[in-house]
Amino acid sequence: MRKKSIGLLLISLLVWGIITYFLFLSRTTANRDKNVLSNQINSLKTQVQRKIADNQILLKRLIELQQKKLDELQAATTVNSLPDDSINNLNSSYLVGSTVKLKTEEEIKREKLKALAAKKSLAKDLPIIAVLVISCNRITVERCLNQLIKLRTNAEQFPIIVSQDCEHKQTADIIKSFGDQVVHIQQPDQSDIDIPLREKKFKGYFKIARHYGWALNQIFFEFGFDTTIIVEDDLDVAPDFYEYFLGTYPLLVADKSLWCVSAWNDNGKSGLVDETAAHLLYRTDFFPGLGWMLTKDLWQELSVKWPKAYWDDWIRQPEQRKNRACIRPELSRTRTFGKVGVSNGLFYEKHLKYIKLNDQFVPFTKMNLSYLLKDNYDINFVNQVYHSTVVSYSELKSGNIVTPGSVRIPYHTRQTFKNTAKMLGLMDDFRSGVPRTGYRGVITFFYNNRRVHLAPNTNWNGYDISWS
Ligand SMILES: *[C@@H]1O[C@H](CO)[C@@H](O)[C@H](O)[C@H]1NC(C)=O
Ligand SMILES: *[C@@H]1O[C@H](CO)[C@@H](O)[C@H](O)[C@H]1NC(C)=O
Repeated sequence: MRKKSIGLLLISLLVWGIITYFLFLSRTTANRDKNVLSNQINSLKTQVQRKIADNQILLKRLIELQQKKLDELQAATTVNSLPDDSINNLNSSYLVGSTVKLKTEEEIKREKLKALAAKKSLAKDLPIIAVLVISCNRITVERCLNQLIKLRTNAEQFPIIVSQDCEHKQTADIIKSFGDQVVHIQQPDQSDIDIPLREKKFKGYFKIARHYGWALNQIFFEFGFDTTIIVEDDLDVAPDFYEYFLGTYPLLVADKSLWCVSAWNDNGKSGLVDETAAHLLYRTDFFPGLGWMLTKDLWQELSVKWPKAYWDDWIRQPEQRKNRACIRPELSRTRTFGKVGVSNGLFYEKHLKYIKLNDQFVPFTKMNLSYLLKDNYDINFVNQVYHSTVVSYSELKSGNIVTPGSVRIPYHTRQTFKNTAKMLGLMDDFRSGVPRTGYRGVITFFYNNRRVHLAPNTNWNGYDISWS
């Protein structure tokens, strides 16, 4: 009996011990779980708080950035005191779904540009003319841009748009470093071009044509400008570059027989130009390019059939030119400084680097340039050319001509033209039958202090496209 109760007691003690042990055990695990949980909650709380703080900083920064942009926009427009506030009204953020998307600097610049283009002019006689700089992978675009920016008197009247092909990072960085002074656009189509096998080595010309086409579409159709001056990234420009284009702009608009104004004289080498006649301008049937102005009307006509390559020779074909002429100066308002490019470096060494860049300012906008309108010009030109004393190359060369005034050297065949041109140092090539700087078949230049016309017969009746 005693033994039994002792046994019972022992068993009870054992059971109690076990129960107590498990009770204790379960309480500590519960405590441990609770601790883990609360640690987790705390850490989560910290994380969330940190996130909120981060977001607040980010949001604050974004707001500051946008405010800065807005202030800049406003400052820019107030300084120039634009009468209408289409540009001030630009809003810098827009809604996408339910989140506010901040506009990038580039988007804001583009909208500003469109608003500017829509104005067409700043005032009477102050048309807005976009300057399109064609760029690819030459970092020397910096030299060109520095000059264009330094010389421009009004950034609103001459907005500079740099169109870049090739995605060349270094060049892009340089263009970006100009900040608000230029708008940088990039040709998005970098796909391979399908080029006929035997033209593979001319791939560069295909890329250039594609880029020109895209860039001009942007200028006229995307941004909506009416007029643009195209400049390539390897050009130096003269002090009166803008004044020249502004002064000739009314001619381009008024005279439908004109299709471009070019800053370039193909025979503009020292020794072939009158350096005291910086004011002198001409009409030419030869499309010179190299710094030239065109209107949206012309682009509407050309863009629908824009070629895949060799655009400059294409534009010179009769189907495109349709007997239209360009204005060109006695002294070039551009000069190319870069010999590395798609076209031959040899051509630069032999010819391009001797082009005389005008260094004086001619107030073209204050001059009467109506002598360049076709009706006035042609009569005077033909009169002057065919009333000039006829001389031979050797007479001209000797400098022993006694009669005053301009002289004429006649040519009758393609070969005599080429021979004479070569001897005089003139360009002797043809494009679609037109010699460089030619007007009605006449090449006008300056030699031994005398105005000279290398001219066909009076019965001349058009270019022979088989001459090349
Ligand atoms: C701002 O932009 C949004 C979206 O682009 C447009 O719906 C809204 O009308 C604009 N507001 C003003 C004041 O221009
Ligand atoms: C400008 O020159 C033309 C001749 O080319 C002349 O007929 C016209 O009267 C001139 N205009 C002015 C305003 O002088």
